[in-house]
Amino acid sequence: MKTLVTNIELLAGIGTELRKEGAAMGSVSTLKDAWLLIDGEHIAGFGSMSEGLPGGADETVDAAGRMVIPAFCDSHTHAVWAGSREREFEDKIRGLSYAEIAANGGGILNSADLLHATSEDELFCQSMVRVREMMAAGSGSIEIKSGYGLSTEDELKMLRVIRRIREAVPAVIKATFLGAHAVARGMQRSDYVRLVCNEMIPAVATEGLADFADVFCEEGFFTPEDTAQILETAARYGLRPKLHANQLAVSGGVQVGVAHGALSVDHLERTTQAEIDCLKGSGTMPTMLPGASFFLREPYGNARGFIEAGLGIALASDYNPGSSPSGDMRFTMALGCIQMRLTPEQAFNAVTINSAYAMGVSNIAGSIAPGKLANIIVTKPAFNTLGTLAYLHHTPFIESVILRGKKFF
Ligand code: NIG
Ligand code: FE
Repeated sequence: MKTLVTNIELLAGIGTELRKEGAAMGSVSTLKDAWLLIDGEHIAGFGSMSEGLPGGADETVDAAGRMVIPAFCDSHTHAVWAGSREREFEDKIRGLSYAEIAANGGGILNSADLLHATSEDELFCQSMVRVREMMAAGSGSIEIKSGYGLSTEDELKMLRVIRRIREAVPAVIKATFLGAHAVARGMQRSDYVRLVCNEMIPAVATEGLADFADVFCEEGFFTPEDTAQILETAARYGLRPKLHANQLAVSGGVQVGVAHGALSVDHLERTTQAEIDCLKGSGTMPTMLPGASFFLREPYGNARGFIEAGLGIALASDYNPGSSPSGDMRFTMALGCIQMRLTPEQAFNAVTINSAYAMGVSNIAGSIAPGKLANIIVTKPAFNTLGTLAYLHHTPFIESVILRGKKFF
């Protein structure tokens, strides 16, 4: 099946580079008055309307007055969870901090209790609602973490649900094992780290359930030493790190992540020059989660500092019940512009190609290039510049989302 999209006012996000860094983050390759050819699940080609159209299309979609962009890539989510933590939302409004709620036994432990009491089928149904909502909002690649299980059995339950989601949806789904998200109730940290290393990681690897390993390297959660131990074990089982670091304090997580070849280090609300220096020349993508800063009223982090130092950054939603209950990447992009003072081009690259890199899919997604998956968004008329996406931040902008060559929404 070949689909030809014609009269595209602006085709944006063209390119084959696997990530963008420094000054290159400020530019987005575009073509005005363009066509795009989709062959099956993939992009077959694109060109200018004035140069003539390719033959052989089975159907034609007229995108006059509209923009076509790559679907968003969301490299950091916790989209599989059970129930709701709305009560804690009210606690936060009354003045408790995220760290105080966690220290009182709420937070992640609360989600772990709810998940324990929920069957795998029910967890799948609840999570699919969110994943469908994310795809309808334009996400074509989604990373999902475990980490609300906190026992071998429940971590496996979460990862099996992620596998079922991968089989059920057209979006590219990557799975991350985050057993070290919090210390399970009633356990000592050192015993829990041993359980993660000796039992959980081997069990996860035996079933081939995860692509990556993550640790919440944070004050009050896991130390850099715990993190190193877990990442060394994970590496023996072929799991590359993607870390939570520097959300609530300067945790040392960036340094541990880079030392262990992490694909990304995420959060970075609190970073110093030492973290920026450490990331230079590495293959690790600094990833920021402005939805969590927004919801927790935390600092947004020094995104421009990273870029000025020649690094790239990715932006992701962090969709989760405790610190970022939104999986809307357009909102993430708008926060990048409004609160982190990224240009629309920088924010766009951060939610497409760089976020694709941060989840290991920038060879197949994140830009418009022949051979890549046909994961694209067709905008409504009036959205014909990248700036309008962030500027008109909540005006509905999606006309359709095409995933693997088929109209999803
Ligand atoms: O990325 N910080 C750790 N993990 C999530 C929050 C998880 C939760 O509160 O449920 C985050 O913000
Ligand atoms: Fe997170």
